Amino acid sequence: MDHLINVVILILVFFSLLFLQLWRPLSRKNLPPGPPGWPLFGNLIQVILQRRPFVFIIRDLRKKYGPIFTMQMGQRTLIIVTSSDLIHEATVQRGADFASRPADSPIRLIFSSGKCTINSAEYGPLWRALRRNFVTELINPTRVRQCDWIRNWAIENQLERLKKEATENGFAEVLSNCRLTMCSILICICFGARISEDLIKDIESVLKGVILMSTPKLPDFLPVLTPLFRRHVREARELRKRQMECLVPLIRERKAFVERGGGDHAVNDGKMASPVGAAYVDSLFELEVPGRGRLGEEELVTLCSEVINGGTDTSATAVEWAMFHLVTDQEIQEKLYDEIVEVVGENGVVTENDVEKMGYLGAVVKETFRRHPPTHFVLSHAAVKETELGGYTIPADANVEFYTAWVAEDPGLWNDPGEFRPERFLERDGVEVDVTGTRAVKMVPFGSGRRICPGMSLGTLHVNLLVARMVQAFKWLPVPDAPPDPTETFAFTVVMKNPLKALILPRSSS
Ligand code: HEM
Repeated sequence: MDHLINVVILILVFFSLLFLQLWRPLSRKNLPPGPPGWPLFGNLIQVILQRRPFVFIIRDLRKKYGPIFTMQMGQRTLIIVTSSDLIHEATVQRGADFASRPADSPIRLIFSSGKCTINSAEYGPLWRALRRNFVTELINPTRVRQCDWIRNWAIENQLERLKKEATENGFAEVLSNCRLTMCSILICICFGARISEDLIKDIESVLKGVILMSTPKLPDFLPVLTPLFRRHVREARELRKRQMECLVPLIRERKAFVERGGGDHAVNDGKMASPVGAAYVDSLFELEVPGRGRLGEEELVTLCSEVINGGTDTSATAVEWAMFHLVTDQEIQEKLYDEIVEVVGENGVVTENDVEKMGYLGAVVKETFRRHPPTHFVLSHAAVKETELGGYTIPADANVEFYTAWVAEDPGLWNDPGEFRPERFLERDGVEVDVTGTRAVKMVPFGSGRRICPGMSLGTLHVNLLVARMVQAFKWLPVPDAPPDPTETFAFTVVMKNPLKALILPRSSS
């Protein structure tokens, strides 16, 4: 019976695609140029047949078609924008025109509670309300200070883990440890509680599953095929159930704590460590959002997961690449260590204020973001209505993909862009660079314009603190028979294909 249904669906799909193919040319005048595609499927089959990461295909097409080009991926039209000028024009000068997000696949809609997240919401009142709440409640200086204990606790745990791992295995692995640390910090920021490592690991594994499940699949490009992917939708619903089971108890405990007015440490077993109002979820309990009113548990799980997802892999990836360069270039590592000792001493705890005094640390982290932006594209954008860019038409239903990694490699904008040189941010071509892209787009690892990452300052703080504490605690050296390998691979962020392993020697006796 299932087989018969699939055959009927395939016939329907064929005729729908044929209809779309015949109808499309009428509405698709003056799109940017692009590679010729196959009937019905556009460039989709060509991309699949190449069996290499999409970003490598884009790099080659950029050479042929220039700074703006079109790829027809099944029913989806992708407009790829790669030049500094056009990215600046679209995201900053005409930011409101390109500030929306495209339609989502049914699987993504499950995890975003129907686009109820900051990152997926269309440009409009819902997005504005959620983003305003994030900015005022999560990243204001008082909140950041209130969460100092979380960072200290999570980083201390990581240093202990590294020591244990090095004793047991002879080396320490960077990414998996940093990922767990970043994830712990964000979970505790969301729920204000000290959470056990086992539960954090559970949440982290669900998070990995959600990322994998949400990566683009055939129905994203050919929505007419969705009925053939019923199994995927079923699996996504099961994973969503697991996500709810992990996070709803934390939400309920926190709500009870807030309703009690916080207080009594003994009643909470010391678990609720952030005062009422200091956890992200506290701000969501009372929030009324346009079109939805008060948020339910589904939406609370979704919005907290967004924070955990948004800041875990991105920040951990940046630390791994920074450590890669410190392991391979001992001179940079020693210069950084000397700066840390000068500001806080051999054993002082590095704080947010100390990080601001560490110019060289800032330069190392900035150079890491330039040389290894965790994501090579920002999230997909969409025009709010049909418009034009670079002299071409941009339809409202197209995905506008900004390939921002390219600008940080452009030899027209940077001297020796392939080299890792933190000094460029202290005295050379990087000194004047504005990482928000407001003045000009030379490196925008957090995007630019209205959709710029609202977690930019928090993410940067976490990367700075973790690198500083790791270098203060240990001297990092290459493993002799497994030297660090800079080959990249794509796993939501652009990580090292062979995860970084290093020998670590404690720097001081205490
Ligand atoms: C090193 C760390 C980080 C990097 C490199 C990074 C990068 C990005 C990028 C490239 C975007 C897309 C911008 C666009 O579409 O134009 C983004 C969006 C976003 N990021 Fe981050 N991010 C980081 C850390 C964080 C953290 C720590 C959080 C949360 C605490 C966060 C929350 C978000 C959210 C909510 C959005 C959606 C913004 C919107 O659509 O309005 N990110 N981030």
